[in-house]
Amino acid sequence: SARPVIFSGMQPSADSLHLGNYLGALVNWVALQDDSDPIYCVVDLHAITVAQEPKALRENVRRTAAQYLAAGVDLERSTLFVQSHVPAHAELAWVLSTITGFGEASRMTQFKDKSSKQGADATTVGLFTYPVLMAADILLYGTDAVPVGDDQRQHLELTRDLATRFNSRYGQTFTVPEALIPKASARIYDLQDPSSKMSKSATSEAGLVKLLDDPSVTAKKFKSAMTDTGREVRYDRDEKPGISNLLDIYSAVTGRPVAEIEGEYAGRGYGDFKKDLAELVVDRLAPIRARTLELMADPAELDRLLAIGADKAAARAEVKLREVYDRVGF
Ligand code: ADP
Ligand code: NA
Repeated sequence: SARPVIFSGMQPSADSLHLGNYLGALVNWVALQDDSDPIYCVVDLHAITVAQEPKALRENVRRTAAQYLAAGVDLERSTLFVQSHVPAHAELAWVLSTITGFGEASRMTQFKDKSSKQGADATTVGLFTYPVLMAADILLYGTDAVPVGDDQRQHLELTRDLATRFNSRYGQTFTVPEALIPKASARIYDLQDPSSKMSKSATSEAGLVKLLDDPSVTAKKFKSAMTDTGREVRYDRDEKPGISNLLDIYSAVTGRPVAEIEGEYAGRGYGDFKKDLAELVVDRLAPIRARTLELMADPAELDRLLAIGADKAAARAEVKLREVYDRVGF
């Protein structure tokens, strides 16, 4: 098709996506459907690079897919599937691993960070080869562009290097994908610790806004969000990181510029601002939560939709894998 192919995915490694995943990624995914050919994946093969409880993983795969749909991923325009349903991902990853340098993979900073925290014995080879699997995910579909955050930049560079290397060794096979940096990319921080990115791996959930939290819980998290000394609703990343994060969220949810919001709350305290923001976020997330729960209540229907997505993805991926196997001499 003439529309650019986009590939993106999230790991089903938590019981709910969070506001950072939504404002930083999903909103953009939904917008991209207008003029691209997007492939959105629940990357469960990636998730098992750290230990997962099987029953929870099975549930979280469905929940993650349901949240994509509830946020607006549209099956008429996007391909939505679960990574482990399409064996070509693991198969291509193996081939790519044979053209990846051990030293090259060892330089991935995310692996270095994670493995140094865990220690060598707790670190799996799967975590080490994670970026090679990510390269396979992207290259199987002739992906033109990949929406990436800073933390995945180096992995996308590796993907580009592997595509170029394979092409020069075996002949033109892979499209070399570009990074897609969203125009207004919202980076959301923890409501209790505004120096840390909001993350499912946060040690406390007090500052983690989950899409599937009960609305009363979401409101409470906003009302008790960490703010800074002073009482002015003013954007200052260094001096007022708490308020600045809340202003970014307000702006992302309403589409209004930060300066306009500052103006509206001039002379009013943090209390009003946090109360209004709580309401805005609750109103935005409530239908997504409700739709997710509806989808989760009919697992057979959800599985049917995911099976259709897997067939669509597999049909495309297998063509590329055959081509690769042919090039390699299989
Ligand atoms: P987490 O950090 O919670 O493990 P992931 O690394 O699985 O989240 O990220 C999934 C997607 O959500 C990625 O596209 C990532 O850039 C985006 N994302 C994650 N956390 C945030 C955040 N705090 N702010 C903005 N975007 C985020
Ligand atoms: Na992460």
